[in-house]
Amino acid sequence: MKIEHLSRCQVSTPPEIVDLLWRLALERRQGKAFSRVLDLGAGDARFARARNAYESYTGVELDKKKAQAASLPAGAKVQVADAMTWKEAGFDLCIGNPPYIRHHNLDREWRAKALESFSKQAGVNMKSTANAFVLFLLQALLKTTDDGLVVQLVPFEWVTRPSAKELRAYIDQMGWRVSVYRFNAKIFPSVLTTASISIIDKSAKMGGWEFGEIGRDGTIKALEHASGSSSAVLPYEKGTSALYSRRGLSPGGQDIFVLTEQERLHFSLQKRRDVVPCVTTLRHIPVETKELDGDVFQDLYVAAGKRCWLIRSDKENVSPELKTYLDHVGERWKKYSTCTVRSTWWRYRPHPKPTLLFSSAFVGKTSKVLINSAGAIAVGTVYGIIAANAKSTTAGTLAKRLRQYDFQQRVVSHSNNLKKVEVKQLNAVLAEIS
Ligand SMILES: C[S@@+](CC[C@H](N)C(=O)[O-])C[C@H]1O[C@@H](n2cnc3c(N)ncnc32)[C@H](O)[C@@H]1O
Repeated sequence: MKIEHLSRCQVSTPPEIVDLLWRLALERRQGKAFSRVLDLGAGDARFARARNAYESYTGVELDKKKAQAASLPAGAKVQVADAMTWKEAGFDLCIGNPPYIRHHNLDREWRAKALESFSKQAGVNMKSTANAFVLFLLQALLKTTDDGLVVQLVPFEWVTRPSAKELRAYIDQMGWRVSVYRFNAKIFPSVLTTASISIIDKSAKMGGWEFGEIGRDGTIKALEHASGSSSAVLPYEKGTSALYSRRGLSPGGQDIFVLTEQERLHFSLQKRRDVVPCVTTLRHIPVETKELDGDVFQDLYVAAGKRCWLIRSDKENVSPELKTYLDHVGERWKKYSTCTVRSTWWRYRPHPKPTLLFSSAFVGKTSKVLINSAGAIAVGTVYGIIAANAKSTTAGTLAKRLRQYDFQQRVVSHSNNLKKVEVKQLNAVLAEIS
């Protein structure tokens, strides 16, 4: 993994939260100390400080400096190693706070080896979109005894994210019991995702998931569903060719592919020939605005200095002006993996103009939806909803129903206030309301 991602993932667990994880681990075993404890991604081995809770502790840490800085009580050791290639198993507890690293930032070779090893060892074929912490969770399960316990501080999102589906299916197949307590307080000031204490008890063979909300003091309030409401989390569904949603275009670096009006003029790029309207956010759009027409686009994007012109580098031939602009980008594209994997770094695959624009992230009850009469392309976190051959009245009705839909009750909060609807969840809603 790239070095900047290693240092970025080194977020230390506050001491009182370390104690809380230990408390919950011990409760699961009636207060009896553990024989052999493993901590994958141990950092400064702060989980080793609970000396009375174990006989032996092994921390595995990739960063030599971190490992060397650990002050260790008797019975504890830290090995400088990669947790994914760690061979020793048979631990009765795996406790800790594994690294959060998005799949885009994982070293491809490292990930391929890890996925292959999981497939061989356990027959679990994890997706390449799984976050590092999801892989660490699976590794924890494989390194613990048949009746072992896994207690980890991880983002709550793994309970619903499609990228962790295979892990959840494996746990269900083995019949292990899962308790996931999401924090109602911010544990890491700099981290956006909602933290949880996730406990997988391998000694229970009847399976089942329970959810709860936990405070810093350890008070737990049971939740009926992962959504935190009385409604189940939205399912994931495929759309139909007549009505579906799709993720916003990811051309590979909005600073390169999406220009402001000022940049467009500077490079003499012509509308339609070189650039088309696009939206990367609906955040600043007033709630009363229901339609993105030419005037709204002009006022709230073009004149407001937003990045709103998508360059037409998807075409076979680009104009001399656009070529000059692309040359001007220099080496900047090299930091975007999407560009580096293409034979021509700038030639992206185009998306259709959606009927509706939908903001995937929202606060409150529902998300913003706009009728897209300006024909803007949805980029990034803005989803496009394509209603093939829809009349404007149908589009209007659909938009109205989406605005009335109570998404809040049906999705999991990933960061403290912010909620996110996945594309396939939006498809499920479209099928329900259309
Ligand atoms: C979120 S930090 C947690 C550190 C410590 N356990 C704590 O709770 O404060 C994750 C740790 O995992 C380490 N790490 C990242 N990738 C690793 C790998 N492949 N193998 C072992 N450790 C790794 C990082 O260096 C970092 O110290």
